[in-house]
Amino acid sequence: MKILRFESLNSTNTWALEHFEELEDFTAICADIQTQGRGRFNRIWVSEEGGNIFLSIVLKPQKTDFVPNLTQYLSVVTARIVESYGVKPQIKWPNDVLVDGKKVSGILCEASMKHNKIRGVVLGIGVNLNMSEDAIKSLGRPATSLNLLTGKKIDKFDFLNLLSSEFKKDYQRVVENGFEVFKEEYLKRTDFLGKTIFLQQRDGAQKEECTAKFFDDMGNLVVATKDGAEKTVFSGDLIL
Ligand code: BTN
Repeated sequence: MKILRFESLNSTNTWALEHFEELEDFTAICADIQTQGRGRFNRIWVSEEGGNIFLSIVLKPQKTDFVPNLTQYLSVVTARIVESYGVKPQIKWPNDVLVDGKKVSGILCEASMKHNKIRGVVLGIGVNLNMSEDAIKSLGRPATSLNLLTGKKIDKFDFLNLLSSEFKKDYQRVVENGFEVFKEEYLKRTDFLGKTIFLQQRDGAQKEECTAKFFDDMGNLVVATKDGAEKTVFSGDLIL
């Protein structure tokens, strides 16, 4: 994977989307800081500290059926790497990586469209590697950082190298076969199936109480609503 490094960008995802055409498949854009880091549902992804990962990978797969699974696959890869630091993460559907209920990594996948056809995606990931307790507190959401979990400063470039080599391993198989390639690995890191959860489509929207049942073959979450009906959830956030 070729990595283009910038000191500062508004958002690595925005930059990658703007330059999509001229960027080769599997090029990654990395910035030390972002001035307008974005999360899912138009949230802000605070990106002021240089020791963290702000990375976007440009992907131009031959087959786009399983593109939604690439975000889930990247969450599995990230969880695996976090484990190599002796920390035990969980994956919160669809693709957050948490430790003890606090978020360490988030993923934002955006499609690049041309003439109503998807020509590829930008897979953006933020990983909290080196943050101060104060910076974490000021996020105002349950979050943590790998340095706080391990008591050590984390070498960003070691983590980046692991991320790129691990992601490459099964990437082609996921493009061709989707969720089934990493289903088992994903499942063993989730701990909310069978439990009551709250679903929220976006910030401020009503939270719907339901029971998480299972993942279908596409990696969508199937829940039982309070009236007992089964429902497949394609996007949204879980509140555990
Ligand atoms: C989320 O959990 O809401 C997703 C967060 C994604 C953040 C990353 S940081 C690199 C890339 N550039 C952005 O502006 N966002 C993603």
